[in-house]
Amino acid sequence: MGRAASPAIGDNTEYLHLDVSSESDWYSAQNYIQEKFGRLDILVNNAGITGFLETEGPFDPENFNTKGWHQVHQTNIDGAAFGCRSAIHLMKASLAASIINISSRSGLVGIPGAAAYASSKAAIRNHSKTVALYCAQNGYPIRCNSIHPGAILTPMWDAMLGQGSERESAIEGVAKEIPLGIMGEPKDVAYAALYLASDESKYVTGIELNIDGGILAGSAAAPSSK
Ligand SMILES: NC(=O)c1ccc[n+]([C@@H]2O[C@H](COP(=O)([O-])OP(=O)(O)OC[C@H]3O[C@@H](n4cnc5c(N)ncnc54)[C@H](O)[C@@H]3O)[C@@H](O)[C@H]2O)c1
Repeated sequence: MGRAASPAIGDNTEYLHLDVSSESDWYSAQNYIQEKFGRLDILVNNAGITGFLETEGPFDPENFNTKGWHQVHQTNIDGAAFGCRSAIHLMKASLAASIINISSRSGLVGIPGAAAYASSKAAIRNHSKTVALYCAQNGYPIRCNSIHPGAILTPMWDAMLGQGSERESAIEGVAKEIPLGIMGEPKDVAYAALYLASDESKYVTGIELNIDGGILAGSAAAPSSK
């Protein structure tokens, strides 16, 4: 999928296979980038799983499956931490570098039915601040921030939304809980990443940027009835 998407993005792209939970994949990518480009300017740690499709349940904090718990953490937080580690080495040679870690609304509030996902996303939030401070403290030209999407309509939701007419009414049900009244689009998150990647955010490090249609603004918020 990535291999096919690469040429569609433009001539100046390249596909590298990388299982984010694999240290050796990260080291291979790091060495490749070091040898070919000598530095890295931007990293978006975007890969993530809920565990619902990829692992075995249960997923609640009373009964969770231990193997599934580890798998979710290996992809979400180990993956992001390995990425930050490789990036710090490569970004020291940059003039202005930015790491963007995709956490979640679930990293800020409890999720009874997705304990490992929520825990791993909370860890990403905190690790981003550690990386931000570590880089600042060492005088590295590297900023690090986290993005917290709410409900963005992507394949991640497929397991929860079902299919056909059931899917449409499930989407409406989710949207009812969102102050802006609709689910987000991938580009809503992409624009936030673009901002954090660019020099327009040169004074921004260690923040958490919520892209959630207002969900986290407060429990009293409800969509307009108009
Ligand atoms: N969609 C939402 O509502 C939402 C909300 C909050 C946070 N997020 C986060 O946004 C990010 C993107 O998710 P999405 O909604 O586009 O879901 P998605 O399932 O469409 O995309 C996730 C991507 O991660 C890749 N991936 C999974 N495990 C991997 C691994 N070990 N190595 C490399 N790649 C791997 C998958 O191949 C897939 O392309 C995730 O970190 C997710 O947790 C999404």
